Amino acid sequence: MLSISERAKSLKGSPIRRLTPLANAAKKRGIAVYHLNIGQPDIPTPTSFMEGVRNAKVDVLSYSPAMGIAETIDAMCAYYAELGIHLAHDELIVTIGGSEAFCFALQATCNPGDEVLIPEPFYPNYVGHSTMNGNRVVPITTRIEDGFHLPPMAEIEKLITPRTRAILFSNPANPTGVGYTRDEVAGLAKLALKHNLFIISDEPYRELMYDGEATSIMSFPELAGNAILVDSISKRLSACGARIGCLATRNKELHAAVNKLCQIRLSPPTFEQLGLVAFLKDPHHKQDIAAIVRKFHARRDTLFDALQSIPGVVCRRPEGAFYIFVKFPQIDDSEAFAKYLLTDFQLDGETVMVAPGADFYATPGMGTNEVRLAYVLEEPKLVRAVEVLKAGLAAYVEEKAGVASVR
Ligand SMILES: Cc1ncc(COP(=O)(O)O)c(C=O)c1O
Repeated sequence: MLSISERAKSLKGSPIRRLTPLANAAKKRGIAVYHLNIGQPDIPTPTSFMEGVRNAKVDVLSYSPAMGIAETIDAMCAYYAELGIHLAHDELIVTIGGSEAFCFALQATCNPGDEVLIPEPFYPNYVGHSTMNGNRVVPITTRIEDGFHLPPMAEIEKLITPRTRAILFSNPANPTGVGYTRDEVAGLAKLALKHNLFIISDEPYRELMYDGEATSIMSFPELAGNAILVDSISKRLSACGARIGCLATRNKELHAAVNKLCQIRLSPPTFEQLGLVAFLKDPHHKQDIAAIVRKFHARRDTLFDALQSIPGVVCRRPEGAFYIFVKFPQIDDSEAFAKYLLTDFQLDGETVMVAPGADFYATPGMGTNEVRLAYVLEEPKLVRAVEVLKAGLAAYVEEKAGVASVR
């Protein structure tokens, strides 16, 4: 019998999407589901972007240049310059979302068998792409009690071996919302320089920092050869479907390698690149982003405060992004709990979908009493979703206790 590749077999489905069939079945039974599982913002995409797409003068929808339309690259460079990050035209490459950017970053830097250091809990697709690239993920374990900030650099240094090639992280981070301090990023930068590692910083949530400011990897000039910026408009423009991101590097050899990767996948989407140009040229674009940030800031506080009503809950107020990683000490299998919410529970015709915690870790056994919540719903819905979650947790614990006592 034909067999698919071992690499493909070893891929786990996304913990964020895996339970979707159960949510769809619940909806078929007439149950409304609050989706706290996926980082898909509900906020309208800015009008200037949409108008830019609609008004684009395109007669032949041809391939765009492999590394992106020149005007789009210039507009993106201007966006970074406003942030104090000065990138030349030939240091930025337009990619098909941030996903392709970190996939290319791994492909261009790591050989099969090389190790990649990633703070856990992490964005699970980092593991998916590392696996497909033949790399071993070495987790830097962070703890909920520390707000998922990094352990001391001396601890991280102990994880570095002759096979270590890169450090990969998001900042502010999915799934924890931690925003690393400048000292933390500087510590990683020092390690990268000392041990000759690439440092891949995924910054799609840059503006979504509510306490302090995000530190970009591009703000360390000494890292010119090591730093790779991965970015995306999915989140800050509420434009996940646009599939536009970028990879920036000052390392010329790396840039040339990524150029070849771009050539073999042909081109990023045309209309959305033009939409982005229209957005970035609109004098109000900063205000549009700020309005989106204000919404998420208010939601973070609403969700965090609402969660405090759940007995035993452990969580820290995250600095950024739009996620909270939460521990419920009373459960020991958050996947079973997430399934239970979709299959066996409802409160007045409503339930909640959460992302189970274990798949955000590489260390076996971690995250089994944790879930990730995305605050991508309006505040009243978030408050209601937490009421439903609280009731679901109580019912689950009671049911489990009942089953245990029958045994
Ligand atoms: C940290 C991080 N990087 C990358 C992505 C994917 O971005 P894109 O939609 O641009 O591929 C996500 C999406 O959730 C993310 O959270």
